[in-house]
Amino acid sequence: MKDTYSNIFSFNKKILSKTIKVLNQGSVVGLPTETVYGLAGNAYSKYSISRIYKLKKRPKLNPLIVHYYDYKKAVNDVIFTKNFFKLYKKFCPGPITFILKKKAQSKIHPNAAAKLNTVAVRFPKHKIVRTILKKLKFPLAMPSANISSCVSPVSAFDVFDEFNNNINLIVNGGLSKIGIESTVIDLTNKPKILRPGIIDIVKIEKILQTRLIKRPYSSKIKSPGMIKKHYSPGIPVLINQTKYDNKSAYIYLGKKYRNNKNFFSLSSNSNLDEAASKLYKTFREIKKRGFKKIQIAKIPSKGPGIAINDRIKKAAN
Ligand code: TXA
Ligand code: MG
Repeated sequence: MKDTYSNIFSFNKKILSKTIKVLNQGSVVGLPTETVYGLAGNAYSKYSISRIYKLKKRPKLNPLIVHYYDYKKAVNDVIFTKNFFKLYKKFCPGPITFILKKKAQSKIHPNAAAKLNTVAVRFPKHKIVRTILKKLKFPLAMPSANISSCVSPVSAFDVFDEFNNNINLIVNGGLSKIGIESTVIDLTNKPKILRPGIIDIVKIEKILQTRLIKRPYSSKIKSPGMIKKHYSPGIPVLINQTKYDNKSAYIYLGKKYRNNKNFFSLSSNSNLDEAASKLYKTFREIKKRGFKKIQIAKIPSKGPGIAINDRIKKAAN
């Protein structure tokens, strides 16, 4: 494995020290999280932030998520709210990102937050990234480790597919369990979901004891990055398909077509958590096999299905 992937490393004490050293120097690394893999750099460093934007070819007006070990490490950077603590207590560390007001004395580099007065903060659960965050004296700006507008990576090899040897270090933490990006919730006003995820609106409303504003996620969103084309596998994607065209790859739920190599089931028992975890992996697989088009059957819009539909709609854009 080391011969073909000279920059992918299994996690051990030596790689932990190396990762810390590289991050302290201002370079960026590929790291596993429970949602998707991230491209991580020092959120307080202008140089690191600029490396991240350049490598990803990301528009400068699309702000990054800043990752911390726990809320205590973020007290000088952002203003916490009551709703934040309710959700933090229930879901963190975990796959949820909070938009909060930035403190005047915050050390987060303005470019990381695209010069906004708000910051996206997340406390990831994956053991490897937590071990690293605990040791660092700064938080990690960490967008998904893909070229802007492409599919997020769910393995170290996916990260390699995106950046090849343009990054020196990718930590292999196995397949990302959740497989789609964190839920993003804006807490600077009346709580509002900006990006649906595995922690869905029903779970959040239960904790906050209030109804959230319901609106389409794609229109008129605060965060500029969300209106753009996203999650694109690089070939046309068609959604809500009922008829199969024999030149396409067909994505569906269930096991009806399991003997046909053009059919890709996201979950044989139609489990939506499993379907979410397999979506990006399936996109990459289909692309690798040389299909020119993806057709996707209707996916129920409940629970994780809401997040899946958000991603495939944007992929079809
Ligand atoms: O699961 C995840 O969240 C992954 C892993 C690596 O942690 N990260 C991730 O980052 O998905 P990224 O950069 O690919 O997506 C961050 C999203 C973008 O849509 C961005 O526009 C939004 O969060 N965002 C960041 N800061 C914001 C802010 N201050 N206000 C509104 N939206 C913001
Ligand atoms: Mg992304």
